[in-house]
Amino acid sequence: MSKKWIYILLTGLLLFTTAFTVIKIKENYFDYPDYWPVPVYDFKKNPVTKDGFQLGRKLFYDPILSRDSSISCASCHLQATGFTHVDHDLSHGIEGRIGTRNSLALINLAWNESFMWDGGVNHIDMQALQPITNPDEMDSSLLEVVDKLNDIPEYRTLFYQVFNDSIITGQHTLKALSQFTISLNSYNSKYDKYIRKEDHVTFSQQELSGLELFKINCSSCHKEPLFTSTEFKNNGLSIDPTLNDYGRYRVTRDPLDSLKFRVPTLRNIQFTAPYMHDGRFESLREVLDHYTTGMEYSKTLAPELNNKIELTSNQKTDLLVFLKTLSDFEFLYNKKYSFPRTFN
Ligand code: HEC
Ligand code: HEC
Repeated sequence: MSKKWIYILLTGLLLFTTAFTVIKIKENYFDYPDYWPVPVYDFKKNPVTKDGFQLGRKLFYDPILSRDSSISCASCHLQATGFTHVDHDLSHGIEGRIGTRNSLALINLAWNESFMWDGGVNHIDMQALQPITNPDEMDSSLLEVVDKLNDIPEYRTLFYQVFNDSIITGQHTLKALSQFTISLNSYNSKYDKYIRKEDHVTFSQQELSGLELFKINCSSCHKEPLFTSTEFKNNGLSIDPTLNDYGRYRVTRDPLDSLKFRVPTLRNIQFTAPYMHDGRFESLREVLDHYTTGMEYSKTLAPELNNKIELTSNQKTDLLVFLKTLSDFEFLYNKKYSFPRTFN
């Protein structure tokens, strides 16, 4: 073969593989920037497919998962607020019953080593069992849910398409839900575009100063790029004597874990008020006031916080301006994640 033909063949092959990869990426419902760490979730056991993601999405928005069909996952996890329960310090479930914790934002969950504020659930495929069976949330059971789903021909067809099984099972219901929740990835905030030097995005002087202050005071726990180290830490909140929530201690019974909670992500933090595990702070300024003047010393206080955080009023403003760059409107208003009016 002449050299020319080898070149033509090689170029053809290159074009073909590029086209193929582009198509594959387009099909992929689970997407994230290549410079991020590798997700913790084991996709081999539950690969995210288009049909699986769409089924999970339908279930997520369907109140059929609660005993009296009044509450869906989305009742406490609203997209426009980063999938948390805005304006509720403690989440509200079935018949207006009040839970004991502030709803968590559902963002970049595939990187979590464990779930819930105290890490009490160690796999997302098991997580949905908790709200479904919790008497203050959906007050149902997996068996009851599966029975109801099996009575609906549309669901039977959809489950068959995804799992190739003519009977709907509890395990498949949980896996479908995970395919949706695990794909709620946020990586297109102003901050991300600034880091990627994309769309000519630049930071103002205030945003730059805020980022610097953040790196000095906050990023040891709210670690970039996920804005959480996923560790359990005591950040100096005083105990609420009615809730008596000792966090991680409830799971491990180890006194060294007393008052520790999982470091939450700060992505879309502008929209996820109120803040902390019990929603005690209404605003981000209150959160900053806590870190500068409100922290309570105790034996398990995180060592990172032993040296007082000092911020002037102007520095606090800069930090707040920076935190707003973590808002990702493409994520918060992405139709792919919204209530499935049309099923595609
Ligand atoms: C009544 C309100 C309510 C309902 C309904 C609800 N959740 Fe939640 N969700 C919460 C609260 C509160 C937490 C934090 C609980 C804790 O830490 O103890 C949470 C935590 C989570 C987490 C853990 C996130 C993390 O970062 O660890 C996931 C995932 C989740 N919910 C998904 C769902 C799914 C799926 C459904 C539907 C099957 C659902 N939720 C229904 C209130 C609710
Ligand atoms: C020692 C680790 C640590 C450091 C340092 C730290 N945080 Fe936190 N942060 C946490 C933990 C843990 C929580 C959750 C505490 C809880 O709810 O009990 C939290 C919660 C928050 C929340 C509420 C999030 C939500 O979803 O409710 C915000 C906002 C926040 N931190 C911002 C900051 C800022 C800004 C700084 C720097 C000034 C900072 N944090 C420094 C560990 C830390």
